[in-house]
Amino acid sequence: MSGLSSFISAASERARQTDLLFFSATALSGFIVLLVAGLIIGFSIRYRKNSNASRAELPPPLLREFETGWTLATVLLFVTIFGWASAQGFGAMTPAGEPLQINVVAKQWMWKSEHPGGEREINELHVPADRAILLSMNSQDVIHSFFVPALRIKQDVVPGHTEALSFIADKPGTYALLCAEYCGTQHSKMTGKVIVMEEEDYADWLSHQEADNSLAAQGERLFTTLGCSGCHGHSANVRAPPLENVYGSPVALADGRIVEADDAYLRDSILQPKRDVVAGFKPIMPSFAGRVSEANLLALLAYLKKKPQQEARDD
Ligand code: CUA
Repeated sequence: MSGLSSFISAASERARQTDLLFFSATALSGFIVLLVAGLIIGFSIRYRKNSNASRAELPPPLLREFETGWTLATVLLFVTIFGWASAQGFGAMTPAGEPLQINVVAKQWMWKSEHPGGEREINELHVPADRAILLSMNSQDVIHSFFVPALRIKQDVVPGHTEALSFIADKPGTYALLCAEYCGTQHSKMTGKVIVMEEEDYADWLSHQEADNSLAAQGERLFTTLGCSGCHGHSANVRAPPLENVYGSPVALADGRIVEADDAYLRDSILQPKRDVVAGFKPIMPSFAGRVSEANLLALLAYLKKKPQQEARDD
């Protein structure tokens, strides 16, 4: 499907509603522009200098009823449009019924998604038609923007924030997925596909996916959901020690000691981050003691051990 045809097609009721609102507002504005311009041109010609049009029956300069009437009518008209547009906006933010939640992670420069059963994909998002989908989106580095023109949805994904976006696609097909926020040199290549499938085709597709439920994969998810990636990610704003290849390597501490980043060191750094601060960094990391279970701690460690290969596989 070409970019143009997917831009024009509307794959959800909301997309059609958005189009109706857009074209109504455009038509109304167009009508007013033509009306005003027409009157200006008409009067300019009729009452031009030296024209012999009668000026005897001009209305008085201010007619109270007329002024009040047209001011109120205009206010009412625009309040109506405002109400219409905001009702649609709020409707779009509230998922109908029990939604199917899919986690999306944006990073330079790809869209990674994960279905409830742990099935994962990159730059593709398969969803069932006629079912409320709730995307829970996080960024691993900079601001990206999740944009699907055919669904008329666009949502910025800000690091350190979980963004929710819901939609119900009702027309099976393949639609363009774009990043609509300049996010670095390969921003324009951060594209993908949203594949809307009939419910049974989606179930069939799911059954052919391999769910990655390894400990390291769980750890990677935690790394994002706990907010670790907000500071330890590639281009995070907060300066924190990078964690690629950290496992097993020597780490210089602020007090001059050099320690090996083994299991115990990494575990301590998560639970008591103020104890062994890495040289050159401020002790600003909050403790995760009590916030991360033992099982989750193991998953995080498994992820940190695998991190270099993981990154190489993705990029
Ligand atoms: Cu991601 Cu532009």
